[in-house]
Amino acid sequence: MDKIYIAGNWKMNMTFQAADDFFSQLADYLNSNRSKNVEALIFPPFTYLELATDTAEETSLSIGAQNVSEHDNGAYTGEISGDMLSSMNVEFCLVGHSERRQYFKEDNALLNKKIKKLRNFFIKPILCVGESLAEREAGKAHEVVQKQLENCLEGIEIDDDLCIAYEPVWAIGTGRTASPQQAQEIHNMIRNWIAEKYDKQTAENLPILYGGSVKPSNLAELMAQPDINGGLIGGASLDIDSYIEMLNIALKI
Ligand code: PGA
Repeated sequence: MDKIYIAGNWKMNMTFQAADDFFSQLADYLNSNRSKNVEALIFPPFTYLELATDTAEETSLSIGAQNVSEHDNGAYTGEISGDMLSSMNVEFCLVGHSERRQYFKEDNALLNKKIKKLRNFFIKPILCVGESLAEREAGKAHEVVQKQLENCLEGIEIDDDLCIAYEPVWAIGTGRTASPQQAQEIHNMIRNWIAEKYDKQTAENLPILYGGSVKPSNLAELMAQPDINGGLIGGASLDIDSYIEMLNIALKI
């Protein structure tokens, strides 16, 4: 797989005006720097999805949501359904980001339901997995990630529409990045797990993104690893200059 994903997860950041400025600068950039090998992808808050999908219509940008409800629709105040996302032309959706697991108590069984909902609406799930510092220090990183994969993907047919993001919890927003070797080791384990569970071709086509303090200065080294197909980037994706710098770095890989 040759494509590199530069996926910006804005989390709960940006105002409407800041998002509007970001997208108009990004549209100018994308319209004058076309590449089939770099996928620019942004996960804005729900409130800016329309701005984002308008930009995506005029450019090569892809758009994802940060979360989806496990329910179809109805009396679930504050929730957003797969149907709603699909009607906004949202192409991707994060599932099981560690912040949702930690602060909103989302567990693997719930995430499994969310993935199933997204697939009903042909939205591509990006399943986030990753171990805590205590789990890594106890030598349990592989075990934890495998259990997350097993439980979240139970009963789900894997095809080219699935992405995985490996995000060690201890590296998110901490400035502490996994070394390229540490990340590659887990990415390779994930690919082998998918190959065993499904088939080799599916595993080879599966985009596996790395997340956790990715920034312009460490992107190239991480992307040089054979099983890392892109970055899921929080803090460094909020600034347009930094985001464009990462797109430029990816273009040269
Ligand atoms: P970070 O966040 O790049 O700010 O560490 C990554 C993520 O949580 O997706």
